Amino acid sequence: MTGPEGSDLGAINSRDDVRRGECQERPTSLIAEELAVSPGVLIEALRRRLDPGKYSASLSNETNLSPATSMDIAQVAKTRYTAKAFDPTKTVAPELIAQLRTVLRTSPSSVNCQPWHFFMAASAGAKARIAKAMHGNYAYNEPKVRNASHVFVLCGKNDLDDAHLQAILAQEDRDGRFATPELMARQDKSRRFYVTLHQSQCNDECHWISRQVYLALGSLLLAAGAVNVDACPMEGFDATVLDKELGLSERRLTALVVVALGYHSADDFNAKLPKSRLPESAIFSEL
Ligand SMILES: Cc1cc2nc3c(=O)[nH]c(=O)nc-3n(C[C@H](O)[C@H](O)[C@H](O)COP(=O)(O)O)c2cc1C
Repeated sequence: MTGPEGSDLGAINSRDDVRRGECQERPTSLIAEELAVSPGVLIEALRRRLDPGKYSASLSNETNLSPATSMDIAQVAKTRYTAKAFDPTKTVAPELIAQLRTVLRTSPSSVNCQPWHFFMAASAGAKARIAKAMHGNYAYNEPKVRNASHVFVLCGKNDLDDAHLQAILAQEDRDGRFATPELMARQDKSRRFYVTLHQSQCNDECHWISRQVYLALGSLLLAAGAVNVDACPMEGFDATVLDKELGLSERRLTALVVVALGYHSADDFNAKLPKSRLPESAIFSEL
């Protein structure tokens, strides 16, 4: 066995051995065949096993193996923080951006209604368009947008129309969620019940939609912390200016929060401040 970067990683007997990390000299191709996975998938799994720090996310479904390591999520929550100044020379790697986009896309939402759209700006020109909305009282946020590596604008849909509901149902069908047409119809009915409830009874459709988008925000912030990417969520922007710049009304969208991602600069005062939260006793009640 030659190690994580070597090609001869074939040294394992069975799936259980992969889990235990026990090794005996056997060719990769043979083991891959026994495990019913491609040699490439096996090598990837072993790389993750041998270098869990580099591959902190769980193994892909393809390998069907247990995660090589589990993350201390409380530690991520305690150490992530809002970056107040970004280093304009540092860029977030495309693989990490891809992971964070996956986090946004897979974020949970009530009845899987996915009432959002996300704009991403990576070029100076694109970031300048968003920065236009950081003026006047919001000018303190402008350098964050300009100096960050990537900026996301998290938007909520203005309403959940029939076309959107049909698109979700069709996607769920393509993704194999319905064994029978009856189950598909039941899911559609259930989703429409909640949508109608918020549209006609609670009269809070836009708030309901916003709540879903903020779940995606929470997921994004925690995920960014988990992959050591600094983030600054911002509600401090001129919504009218951003709406005009991105043509949001025409697309029946509303910008709710902007998130700058990148790496903090030396003058980020917040990096040196301790995190402050109310004590556990004030926010939890045991029943
Ligand atoms: C929805 C939301 C909007 C925020 N808006 C801004 C903002 O416009 N500008 C800013 O510098 N920080 C903004 N923050 C950052 C908060 O001030 C910060 O999350 C809070 O003080 C807790 O600190 P921490 O994130 O470092 O743990 C925002 C945070 C959230 C969740």
